[in-house]
Amino acid sequence: MRVAPVTLRNFVSPRLWLAPAAIALLAVGSHVVAQDADAGAATGGAELAPFTYMAGQAVGGKTNYQRLCAECHGNNLEGTSAPPLSGDNFAHWIDAPVIDLFTFIQEQMPAGAGGTLSDAQVATIITHIAKVNGMAQSTKGMPTKPDALEGIRFGQ
Ligand code: HEC
Repeated sequence: MRVAPVTLRNFVSPRLWLAPAAIALLAVGSHVVAQDADAGAATGGAELAPFTYMAGQAVGGKTNYQRLCAECHGNNLEGTSAPPLSGDNFAHWIDAPVIDLFTFIQEQMPAGAGGTLSDAQVATIITHIAKVNGMAQSTKGMPTKPDALEGIRFGQ
C-alpha cells in the first residue's frame, strides 16, 4: 500500500511538465516586451533625454529666425502666411525626437530654399523656437550636430 502515494504523485506529475512550458512562454513574452522597448526608443519613447539649450544660443537663434523665417511664420512665431511655430498647432513636434524637427527645417526651410542652412543655424533657430514656446534655459547647450540629437526629446 506504500505504492499508492507514489502512483498518486505520478498521476499529478504531468503538471510539472507545464512549468517549463510556462517559463518558455514567459521568456517569449519578455522578449516581445524588450522589442517594444526598442521600438519606443526609435520612435520617441520615454528613454529620450530632456532638451536643453543655453540663453546665448537663443539670442543667436532669434537673429537667424528674424532674418530667415519671420517673413512667413511671423515675428512672434504666431504664423502669417505659414503655420505658427508655437501653441497647439505646433504641439505635434513636442515630445518627439528633436532630430525630426531639425531634419525637417534643414531639408525644407526656408520654403523654397531648403538645404541652405548650416547645422548651427538650424540648432540656434530651434533654441529660439524653444524659448518662445516656454522651455526653460539651462547651463547645458543644445548640441548642433545631428548625430548628437538622435537621443534627445524636444520638450521639457
Ligand atoms: C517663404 C515662406 C517661408 C519661410 C521663409 C519659412 N517657412 Fe517654414 N513653412 C512655410 C510653409 C508654407 C510651411 C507649411 C509647409 C507644409 O505644411 O508642407 C512651413 C512649415 C514649417 C514648419 C512645420 C510647421 C508645422 O506645423 O508642422 C516648420 C517647423 C518651419 N516651417 C520652420 C521654419 C523655419 C525654422 C524657417 C526659417 C529658417 C522657416 N520655416 C522659413 C513657409 C516658410
